Amino acid sequence: MIMYMIITTWIILVYPNTTVHAKCNITSDMLGYKVAQCKDQGLTSVPINLPPDIKKLDLSYNRLTRLGANSFHRYKYLEHLILDNNLMNFLGAKAFIGLSLLRLLSMVRNQLNVSTSYQPGVFESLQNLSALDISRNMNTSNYSDKYNIPVGELCNLRELSMDLVLNATFGEQFKKLHNLQTLRFDYCYVDMLYNETFLDMPVTIKEFHMTTCKHFVVVESGVLIPFPHLKVLNLTNSDIHLKQALSILHPFQNKSMDAILFRGLTRGDFNHGLSTVILTPETMKCILTICIKTLDVSDNEIISVEKGSFSFKYPECFENVMVSANSFSLDNWAFDFFPLLRHMTNIKMFDFSYFPLRFKNAIFLDVVIENNHTTIQRLEDRHRLDRINITIMIPKQIQFIRITHLMGRHDLSEIQAFNSSLRHFEVSYFETDDFPIFTFGGFNSLEHLDLSGIRSDITIGAGKIPLLIHLKTLILKETKLYNILETKTSILSFCPNIRNLDISYNYMWKINSLGKLPYLKHLNLSHNLLDTVPDVVTMFDSLTELDLSHNQLTTIQIKIRNWIDTQHNKIGTFKLYLSNNPLICSCDTKTFLRWILTTKVNLDKNGNYSCWVSSIKTINYTRNVAEDFHHYFVDCDTTVWIKLGISLLVSVLSSLICITLLYNFRWRIIFFFFRNFRRFAEKGLELTFDYDVYVSYSDDCISFVKELQKKVEDDWGFKICFEDRDFVVGESIATERASFIHRCRHVIFLVSPSIVENEWTRFEIERAKYEKFSKNLQKIVVITRDIPLDDIRRIFHYLERCTFNSMASRTRGSTNGLAKATTLVLLMFF
Ligand SMILES: *[C@@H]1O[C@H](CO)[C@@H](O)[C@H](O)[C@H]1NC(C)=O
Ligand SMILES: *[C@@H]1O[C@H](CO)[C@@H](O)[C@H](O)[C@H]1NC(C)=O
Ligand SMILES: *[C@@H]1O[C@H](CO)[C@@H](O)[C@H](O)[C@H]1NC(C)=O
Ligand SMILES: *[C@@H]1O[C@H](CO)[C@@H](O)[C@H](O)[C@H]1NC(C)=O
Ligand SMILES: *[C@@H]1O[C@H](CO)[C@@H](O)[C@H](O)[C@H]1NC(C)=O
Ligand SMILES: *[C@@H]1O[C@H](CO)[C@@H](O)[C@H](O)[C@H]1NC(C)=O
Ligand SMILES: *[C@@H]1O[C@H](CO)[C@@H](O)[C@H](O)[C@H]1NC(C)=O
Ligand SMILES: *[C@@H]1O[C@H](CO)[C@@H](O)[C@H](O)[C@H]1NC(C)=O
Ligand SMILES: *[C@@H]1O[C@H](CO)[C@@H](O)[C@H](O)[C@H]1NC(C)=O
Ligand SMILES: *[C@@H]1O[C@H](CO)[C@@H](O)[C@H](O)[C@H]1NC(C)=O
Ligand SMILES: *[C@@H]1O[C@H](CO)[C@@H](O)[C@H](O)[C@H]1NC(C)=O
Ligand SMILES: *[C@@H]1O[C@H](CO)[C@@H](O)[C@H](O)[C@H]1NC(C)=O
Repeated sequence: MIMYMIITTWIILVYPNTTVHAKCNITSDMLGYKVAQCKDQGLTSVPINLPPDIKKLDLSYNRLTRLGANSFHRYKYLEHLILDNNLMNFLGAKAFIGLSLLRLLSMVRNQLNVSTSYQPGVFESLQNLSALDISRNMNTSNYSDKYNIPVGELCNLRELSMDLVLNATFGEQFKKLHNLQTLRFDYCYVDMLYNETFLDMPVTIKEFHMTTCKHFVVVESGVLIPFPHLKVLNLTNSDIHLKQALSILHPFQNKSMDAILFRGLTRGDFNHGLSTVILTPETMKCILTICIKTLDVSDNEIISVEKGSFSFKYPECFENVMVSANSFSLDNWAFDFFPLLRHMTNIKMFDFSYFPLRFKNAIFLDVVIENNHTTIQRLEDRHRLDRINITIMIPKQIQFIRITHLMGRHDLSEIQAFNSSLRHFEVSYFETDDFPIFTFGGFNSLEHLDLSGIRSDITIGAGKIPLLIHLKTLILKETKLYNILETKTSILSFCPNIRNLDISYNYMWKINSLGKLPYLKHLNLSHNLLDTVPDVVTMFDSLTELDLSHNQLTTIQIKIRNWIDTQHNKIGTFKLYLSNNPLICSCDTKTFLRWILTTKVNLDKNGNYSCWVSSIKTINYTRNVAEDFHHYFVDCDTTVWIKLGISLLVSVLSSLICITLLYNFRWRIIFFFFRNFRRFAEKGLELTFDYDVYVSYSDDCISFVKELQKKVEDDWGFKICFEDRDFVVGESIATERASFIHRCRHVIFLVSPSIVENEWTRFEIERAKYEKFSKNLQKIVVITRDIPLDDIRRIFHYLERCTFNSMASRTRGSTNGLAKATTLVLLMFF
């Protein structure tokens, strides 16, 4: 009780009081910390009428151009001074006099010139300063300068952030910063780092950040020798090339480091003879002997890893490893890495994602780990008969694993964990027909599981996931869940205690059952095809958030509305998202419109949605309509409106499906599809494509391709991507094909007998499948000549899972022979 009173009093005392002083707000708490907030007041000089005992002064976003003598004389208790985003280009010698207690000084985004703006002695009185930030001042790129920043007096400085200019010469004064630990270069314009560049810097530096350098930097290998005690090296997104970055690590051999952050260093610089990266034991020589806690080599165009390149000497040091977004195949890497994984006894986080394997007929190596004995088997994809089962044991102490966007086959049959500390597990967008079984022995603490982008019939539908009683969040986006919801009712029984469930982007039009999830609080059903709110939601007694946006709802049934209100009253809050549904404002939905206006439930868009106003056949907002209902619906005769509502619904849906068609007497068209609907959906998903169609063809189709181009581009206004016209000369052909397929909305395969001989077709099919899978948007169009449907199915064995629907359709622009349509087969991919 006494404790409680003390706490309450304290809270009251600390509560800040505010006074307005000139253009500044002064706040202070009872602990004596007084802050003057003078942001964005158009000040051209430092205000002189503030209380003298302020400890923090914020003058950012004003118009200060120079600081003369004694600018802050009055405020001798200042500890924190912020002068960011002004126009300062001159700091007088006595500008900061009297600020002996100042600890933090920030002058980001001014116009301070490293060679001319700082008068000698300007920092003399800042004896207690521990952090100085003068970065983002030199915004013009190339000019070289001597640093005339008189930092020598800042004997307590621990952190320094500044710009790095071309051919920087720092000067002896930097050597005197005996306490400097962190050196951060922000705007970075160097193109050459010499062995001598940082010789003037003190040896005490532990953290060195040189990020986002704008030009390619040539680096001499001794450049980091002046920093023998470095613990953190951050070169993220600097254009340095991984090979050079690895070569400057030799001063740290046999030492330990907290972080080596080499993400995005490689941009393929052909001028310097450095393009993609091949890791060899030789290039990795130095890094292999370092004991590293966090290693990030993501996004470096590593295309190959030679055997032995990952044999780190101190695997037990690793806590976080990130190797995503490279292109190497898994062969040698797996050989090194999986055995290494067993020795990473302290690993907590592992990220291995975005690995496109781009080559057809790749030769795969399988790693078999049995009884401490590792063997490798070389297997060619085509001749493989037996699957070799690999079991991976997740290290006990690892907490976070992400493996996402992987393309390529794998032979994992089982992932095991025993008494695992794993909390976050993300295995998503993984193109595979066979998902590994998970077994969790002993206890497990998995809280977050993300299996998005993998067909749910091979994951949860196949019972591959064990009981996870601690699971709080389950994400199943784009998993074609409707496939298994039809037949299975208890698919979620492995995670009975989840709080959050995301099953958006699943093309579900109904949900029969999700099982009993008594603790479910957040349910995301957005981006589906629901036309009524499924009754199952009312089973979830703890639900407080329901996302139904981007569906096909026209209204919400009374039963669901009542249930939502009940939930809101019971739990105290309920969030409902309804935007981007084709809601209808009509006599029938009158009560629904009222409800949106009056309910206490928390609605997105403030409860104001666009709706189709049936009486005047236009779109308006629900609020406008509800407030002015009688104006819109003079006579609400129920039966009339039901009929109209239904017919409207049908016409809305069918107008979305605008079918275009392509036909030629020699070519049998199998597929084309609705263009407007797609455009509409893409807008929602924020996808953009440079081309509409990618056409894959063999040489014997060229004349037809020309005909096709004329029709499709000139008459219909689609944009086609042709190999012979659009490919950039000189690029690797595999990369080029892959990137074009990625940039096209749809892919057309012209299937002629010679397709079998075109070695690229399989690659293109693989790519198209991958793109289709990862976006769920592109359509694969197959136009055939002289090939029976069964053969096509064999070529595109992916298509076997698709339903073929025959539809009669309208023709368009039928004057040309090409477009004389008779029938059309629509491949329903979802
Ligand atoms: C001072 O506080 C008022 C009210 O909180 C606010 O409107 C005003 O923008 C503040 N002025 C400054 C300079 O931050
Ligand atoms: C640094 O600040 C402390 C109080 O925090 C003060 O006692 C000391 O005198 C200051 N140092 C200098 C050189 O002014
Ligand atoms: C900095 O000052 C030097 C000397 O006056 C001048 O040559 C240089 O252009 C200035 N740099 C910028 C970015 O203004
Ligand atoms: C550099 O700063 C000056 C003055 O603030 C501004 O006029 C100029 O546009 C900036 N240049 C760049 C490249 O940002
Ligand atoms: C930078 O240098 C390049 C050539 O090295 C030159 O073309 C460019 O104009 C220079 N830019 C500035 C702002 O000086
Ligand atoms: C930078 O220094 C090198 C050698 O010291 C010199 O060759 C080069 O011209 C300098 N670049 C500029 C822009 O001053
Ligand atoms: C830079 O230092 C490295 C390592 O000490 C040395 O091998 C190299 O020759 C030096 N380069 C120059 C130009 O001195
Ligand atoms: C490394 O640099 C990047 C880019 O400046 C920054 O976002 C990141 O926080 C830095 N990492 C660390 C550990 O400081
Ligand atoms: C690192 O340690 C190994 C032996 O453990 C030794 O042979 C090697 O010379 C050392 N390297 C350096 C740079 O100290
Ligand atoms: C595997 O190696 C560990 C030590 O590395 C050893 O304790 C264990 O007995 C070995 N297991 C088998 C089956 O040989
Ligand atoms: C791999 O596992 C499957 C089923 O899990 C089994 O049928 C097959 O025989 C196993 N293969 C080998 C080589 O152990
Ligand atoms: C929407 O409704 C309001 C209120 O009835 C009306 O003033 C407005 O013109 C309508 N907008 C359209 C586009 O019909």
